[in-house]
Amino acid sequence: MAAVHAAAYRLDRPWSEAEFAGLTASPHVMAFGDARAILLTRIIADEAEVLTIATHPDHRRKGLARALLERFHAAARARGATRAFLEVAADNTPALTLYLGAGYAQVGQRRAYYDRAAGPAADALVLERSLI
Ligand SMILES: CC(C)(COP(=O)(O)OP(=O)(O)OC[C@H]1O[C@@H](n2cnc3c(N)ncnc32)[C@H](O)[C@@H]1OP(=O)(O)O)[C@@H](O)C(=O)NCCC(=O)NCCS
Repeated sequence: MAAVHAAAYRLDRPWSEAEFAGLTASPHVMAFGDARAILLTRIIADEAEVLTIATHPDHRRKGLARALLERFHAAARARGATRAFLEVAADNTPALTLYLGAGYAQVGQRRAYYDRAAGPAADALVLERSLI
């Protein structure tokens, strides 16, 4: 998961294996995917939150992220969640297009939430989808 995350996000400090191990140790956290694409979610009571979703650059536009979202929705529903949430940078067109196509809609906006090395900080959009 750490390898896919690092390749997909190209962050200065990608999430480490230890961080993924810590997150997935929680009984509220579920992980989906393989060496090509991953999705991590936290499900508490009736709310499910996407912590991260990433597809390795070598495997993009093959429907892997869309399939992971569908698996996530079914699993969250089976655990009793009725709503799914996630945050996405307003300038992340691939992710935004993926989510809007999967039934999410904007319910909030966090101004200047994501630092950008080159240019001003990007807003975060809060998206929600019903699981009922
Ligand atoms: C966003 C991301 C997870 C999409 O993964 P993916 O496996 O390539 O996505 P899919 O193949 O399942 O695409 C499903 C749909 O999403 C949309 N989409 C995906 N990539 C897109 C792009 N580069 N531009 C426009 N739309 C895109 C399309 O509607 C696509 O359907 P189509 O291929 O039939 O047109 C991937 O680009 C990624 O890992 N990005 C870096 C990490 C990231 O930004 N994660 C989300 C943070 S909120």
